[in-house]
Amino acid sequence: MSYDLSCCFRNGDKNKYRILWEITDMCNQRCPFCHAKGTNNITIEDVKKILDNLKILQIKDIILTGGEPFLRKDIFEIMDMIQRGGYCVDLCTNGTLLDKEKISNLKKYVSEISVSLDAHNRELYRVLRGRDDFDKVIQNIRELVFQGIAVHLICTLNSHNYPFVEQIIALAEELRVDSIAVANIIADIANDVDYVKSVLLTDAQCKDIMLLIERLRPVTGIIINTKNIRKVCDNKQCMAGKNILGITSDGYLISCIMRRNSRKIKITGKIDAQMLHDLTADYMESFQK
Ligand SMILES: C[S@@+](CC[C@H](N)C(=O)[O-])C[C@H]1O[C@@H](n2cnc3c(N)ncnc32)[C@H](O)[C@@H]1O
Ligand code: SF4
Repeated sequence: MSYDLSCCFRNGDKNKYRILWEITDMCNQRCPFCHAKGTNNITIEDVKKILDNLKILQIKDIILTGGEPFLRKDIFEIMDMIQRGGYCVDLCTNGTLLDKEKISNLKKYVSEISVSLDAHNRELYRVLRGRDDFDKVIQNIRELVFQGIAVHLICTLNSHNYPFVEQIIALAEELRVDSIAVANIIADIANDVDYVKSVLLTDAQCKDIMLLIERLRPVTGIIINTKNIRKVCDNKQCMAGKNILGITSDGYLISCIMRRNSRKIKITGKIDAQMLHDLTADYMESFQK
């Protein structure tokens, strides 16, 4: 899998789709850069309808995201349904709501998991995510690795954690995770756009991060994905629509959950292959403009 040619929503299979599905919009954290509004929590009946609809698409795997997927009491039931539907299932989580038992249960469903970690210590974590959850997240990452689940970290960058990228990567290495994606914040999807604009990295800082990572790559034991170090995702090599799709928490199929204003299809309704074709063609065109 080439991590630099696919974004932090990576996909190793060029002929099939990976879907990022916001299985809830509810969250136990309130990160000011995020788009989660705490308003949508799809019913299990609609989850079933969506899984039936997805059969017409060439899907390899479904990655559950949110909001915080582990806030749902039925998250294991949902993973079970996805697995029985013949798809691989992965998760993206803030890592705060896991424990030994849940991690042990998770092993039946996932071989890898994405965990957000944007800080190397408690103080910075609290500044970024507004909660004192650092120790819990670190404990859970250690337990995931110990129980044999490959961990992929996502470090969302802004001016607060920019000076500490080297320490965050060192921590990732110490935790023995498989990889880390160092990604910039996308301003226009955030709940608090003005806040995000005030903490966005400058172009010079983005270049510094790239240079730092080029220096670290030969000496670190983990994969560092950097494609999203930019203020907007405008790269023609972006996999969205080609082999990555999203489902928003209000039940729309979309090419990328990070570009929420692009064309959508209500995925709990009736869909066909032509609708998917139109959706992805529209998205590709938006990159040509
Ligand atoms: C929306 S969260 C959902 C899953 C889970 N709650 C978590 O925090 O990992 C998924 C990822 O999106 C990132 N994210 C949130 N808002 C973002 C934004 N405006 N731009 C870029 N990434 C963002 C988060 O940092 C996190 O790594
Ligand atoms: S980034 Fe994740 S943890 Fe933070 S508010 Fe958004 S959904 Fe919740």
